[in-house]
Amino acid sequence: MEILKINNLTKVYSSYKGAKEVTALDGISFTVNKSEFVGIMGPSGSGKTTLLNILSGVDKSTSGETIIDNQNISKLKKDNLALFRRKNIGYIFQDFNLLDSLDVKENISLPLILDKKCPDEIEKRVDNLMRFFNIENLGKKYPYNISGGQKQRVAAARALINDPKIIFADEPTGNLDSKSANTIMNTISKMNNEINSTVLMVTHDPFAASFCKRIIFIKDGKVKMEITSDGDRKRFFDKILEVQSVIGGEN
Ligand SMILES: Nc1ncnc2c1ncn2[C@@H]1O[C@H](COP(=O)(O)OP(=O)(O)OP(=O)(O)O)[C@@H](O)[C@H]1O
Ligand SMILES: [Mg+2]
Repeated sequence: MEILKINNLTKVYSSYKGAKEVTALDGISFTVNKSEFVGIMGPSGSGKTTLLNILSGVDKSTSGETIIDNQNISKLKKDNLALFRRKNIGYIFQDFNLLDSLDVKENISLPLILDKKCPDEIEKRVDNLMRFFNIENLGKKYPYNISGGQKQRVAAARALINDPKIIFADEPTGNLDSKSANTIMNTISKMNNEINSTVLMVTHDPFAASFCKRIIFIKDGKVKMEITSDGDRKRFFDKILEVQSVIGGEN
């Protein structure tokens, strides 16, 4: 079942103060099916952030369509788009985006509180997810009192709390040491394998990408190549390095 479909997406940043027009996305099309874990890789400037901003509704494309769960979000007006995002999309950001004035449990609950769910249901869902991510002892702590890897797991729990159709992860290992990077990638894999979450992740990092099941390489705003994993992470990692050496994107 298709969860995400993008059709011939283009993004042209118009010229500004003498700077030239930039075609950041030049006719990108691909689909992501339910329960897939797809990575987007490509050299600096290839259009990864632009793509994620459009997919998540932060920015508008110049042309083309973005369809999430059969809804063409390119056509939604601002308020409906915001509501659609809150109900259907989960985000894991590079810098966590946790609120320092709320404790861990409150941070995870926030999307449900905004959605006016009943307190019993909130309690139950939050407890389940905290157990799932092994952070059940951190509920009363504040973000500034927990480690980077723990913060990422809190962010993952918050991303899942609404039972989203798809999760967008933006460089989730970007700010982490290698041990925490390993923890968060295992966490995302666990979400994908055990609760069938559909994940689309943008990353520079071949280690993080090796956890994906499929990777789409983009360059100059176009899809250049696609590779799939046979399940052996080490082998997939080597394959990623090989493609990067041809396409670029090691930085
Ligand atoms: N707001 C903007 N105005 C004009 N040009 C932009 C804007 N944002 C991005 N660009 C240009 O669009 C192209 C794609 O940029 P984008 O940020 O999507 O790349 P990226 O793949 O995320 O790169 P990185 O790996 O360095 O984060 C680049 O040429 C960039 O300079
Ligand atoms: Mg970027």
